[in-house]
Amino acid sequence: MNLRRFLAWAEAEGHLAMIDRPVDPYLEMARWIHARQEQPALFANPQRPGWQVAAGVCSRREHFAWALGTDVTGIVPRLIEALRRPAPPVCIAEAPCQEVINHTPNLDRLPILKHLRGDGGPYVTAAVAIISDPDYGRNASFHRLMQIGPHSFTARIVEGRGTDTAWRKAVTAGHDLDIAICLGVPMHVLLAAAMSPAKGVDELAIANALAPTPVVRCLTVDLEVPAECEAVLEGRITAQLADEGPFIDLTETWDIVRPQPVIQIDCLTHRRGPIYHALLPGGLEHKLLMGLPREPTLFQAVAEVAECRAVNITPGGMNWLHAVVQIAKHRSEDGRRAIEAAFRGHGSLKHVVVVDDDVDLFDPAAVEWAIATRFQADQDLVVLPDQPSSSLDPSAKLAPGQKARSAKMGLDATIPWTDRTGRLLTEAEQDGFHKVRYDAASDA
Ligand SMILES: Cc1cc2nc3c(=O)[nH]c(=O)nc-3n(C[C@H](O)[C@H](O)[C@H](O)COP(=O)(O)O)c2cc1C
Repeated sequence: MNLRRFLAWAEAEGHLAMIDRPVDPYLEMARWIHARQEQPALFANPQRPGWQVAAGVCSRREHFAWALGTDVTGIVPRLIEALRRPAPPVCIAEAPCQEVINHTPNLDRLPILKHLRGDGGPYVTAAVAIISDPDYGRNASFHRLMQIGPHSFTARIVEGRGTDTAWRKAVTAGHDLDIAICLGVPMHVLLAAAMSPAKGVDELAIANALAPTPVVRCLTVDLEVPAECEAVLEGRITAQLADEGPFIDLTETWDIVRPQPVIQIDCLTHRRGPIYHALLPGGLEHKLLMGLPREPTLFQAVAEVAECRAVNITPGGMNWLHAVVQIAKHRSEDGRRAIEAAFRGHGSLKHVVVVDDDVDLFDPAAVEWAIATRFQADQDLVVLPDQPSSSLDPSAKLAPGQKARSAKMGLDATIPWTDRTGRLLTEAEQDGFHKVRYDAASDA
């Protein structure tokens, strides 16, 4: 689903805010997006001639459901299927993203937002960066990009990930690494790029398994990009480093300033009347795009040990540290086994609650109700001390150059099958844990 089709759907559904007045990408636009809780919006006049800006594209699960032609519960099965059967995309000769070609681009003419006063600079936040590794092939991933000049960025490139390992190989071999930075990317490509499949698996083949994703060759670098992007910045990740940050992270707290690789931009191609996708750092879109693509592996890990019905990496835990897992329980120990599997399925997970399939895992009050009525801390709590964990958790043990460590906790909030003496509960006793429902009123 490309960005234009999403915006047309949001408008038809009455979700889209159209803002025709001039809005400044310098601080003003981010405040507007934040104040409206990332409602889908199209800024027709971002004070950069020729461009429009879209916001709130990925802020709700429902948007992805619509983009994938399913409902909210159907998203994870679709992602699992695409992960199982990646389909290499076809390469086409002419593409919308190359309708206009500019060999002397100036980044100051793009509506790159500065979000907060304390930011190190204007930041590109919703770009998918494509590189090629000599050993593993194509890699598509997200990298926030701080603009440091009319033709350059410094990029946050997390150590050990696909882009980082390819960049290090290029630097060791004495050359720059080609990069294509895609802006205004189709929604299924955003999802695929946020996944971390095994090394060597092409995220664009996962995207193409979700929905047809033809690619086109870039003009100045030896890479291919999704044809339906709004714009592409072609350039090189150099060996030079420059300070990146400050910038707010998923935690909504300041991330530190680090020396990071500098990217030089040599060419800009775009659609006529390109639409720039702005994503609020630390906002709903950022969180959902981080967490949702991890749900397939979480689901699959739980499904190996129990009948997993659904999983939800929840917004309260930054869509990263907390999850609810819903199972159909067939054995007394299923809840506990699901907890252990969940930690294997999403390594950054810190706290997990396991519920039965009569509990709505998207409703925090329903999950809390299950904890209140089905859980006893001295029997149903799993605590794992000193585990490898997420560096995004400020309360974890964090030491430079070392994997973060923290305690992990799982709550088995499924209906117990035994009492405190170990006696098996009768079916009637287990039934007593179910919520009693009122009948529907005939005239309400
Ligand atoms: C909105 C968003 C922003 C992200 N920003 C960064 C970033 O600035 N730097 C980074 O290295 N990873 C970032 N990530 C995470 C990577 O895209 C993600 O871990 C990727 O799947 C890594 O895959 P790889 O190991 O195949 O490279 C971001 C993810 C999302 C969804």
